[in-house]
Amino acid sequence: MKIPLAEPFASQDHLKAVKEVLESGQFVNGLQTKEFEKEFAKLVGCKNAIAVNSGTAALHLALLSAGIKRGDEVITVSHTFIATLESIWHVGGKPQVADIDDRYYTMDVTEARKLISDKTRAIIPVHIFGHPVDMDPLQELASEHNLVIIEDAAQAHGAQYKSRSVGTLGDIACFSFYPSKNLTVCGDGGMIVTQNDELAGRAKMLRDHGRKEKYASELVGYNYRISEIASAIGRVSLPNLSRWNEERRNIASRYEHALSGVGDLVLPKEADWARHVYHVYAIRHPHRDALAQWLSKNGIQTGKHYPVPCHLQPVFAKMEHKSVRLERTEAAANELLSLPMYPEMTGDEIDYVAGNVRKFIERPN
Ligand SMILES: Cc1ncc(COP(=O)(O)O)c(C=O)c1O
Repeated sequence: MKIPLAEPFASQDHLKAVKEVLESGQFVNGLQTKEFEKEFAKLVGCKNAIAVNSGTAALHLALLSAGIKRGDEVITVSHTFIATLESIWHVGGKPQVADIDDRYYTMDVTEARKLISDKTRAIIPVHIFGHPVDMDPLQELASEHNLVIIEDAAQAHGAQYKSRSVGTLGDIACFSFYPSKNLTVCGDGGMIVTQNDELAGRAKMLRDHGRKEKYASELVGYNYRISEIASAIGRVSLPNLSRWNEERRNIASRYEHALSGVGDLVLPKEADWARHVYHVYAIRHPHRDALAQWLSKNGIQTGKHYPVPCHLQPVFAKMEHKSVRLERTEAAANELLSLPMYPEMTGDEIDYVAGNVRKFIERPN
């Protein structure tokens, strides 16, 4: 058996939607993008949605729209994709990285509190792997210090915190539609959502050369527009998101059933207050690399999210000129292994993966 880590999905309906865009002759700033924004806003339960050409662009514009500027400090985590920190550097900000909670691998808000200074302006919780950050204490921290909350929901479309959708828990939120994500546009794409009309207005202008009208640019903007083809594909996929997330949850529960109590293996946890959408199903084991090799030999692709935390990548030293120690983040980086996870995975495939994990752990030394 050959089992990939993730399997992007494209159907005849996607092909039909692409054909319609090609025939329309409208490739940017058209009906597909407007409708995609409306439908995504409705799905998340947010007033405004602004589609852009990547999750990284979404984060950059969210920070700019919120007025984060040179020298401002932004608290986030190092256990994330580098784009979270890059967006802070893009506006001249200084990322302050907090250690993670060992149960859910998300920001430990007690650690975040220790990083507050008189330069702190914003905080970026990352709903990593599809599990939401514990937002109540984070909101408390933000209101005490008047901080903007920018949710990095790139991996968490459809996840919930206390029955509220991620994307509605802070001031502004960012999603990614990169091909492996729970919702994709079969290419790059992203979305900003916010209840705040002022933030939405600025993000919308900045996405398209700082303008509302063609030859009347008011701000130094960017070209972060999404293509009509990407929006059309997103619209075809969007109605399936909740079913796909449900399937991911079913796969997680079959893995859990097959693997709980196996040796020193640690399985992903879901907090009482969370609805996890398992963008990544990350198990933890002290012999992670040997386990990955064993699975690979048996035709099973795995991933490491992330083998080098952001604060240990060369760019961090270049930008921050300091070394940071984050014990829990570094330990997780050495031990986390992502197992195959995609909605069409069959029961036999799940059992094959779980069976091979079990065989590795229970093998005689
Ligand atoms: C946590 C996180 N933040 C930001 C991004 C950036 O999104 P994109 O790849 O669409 O630019 C990603 C996606 O890869 C991500 O996983």
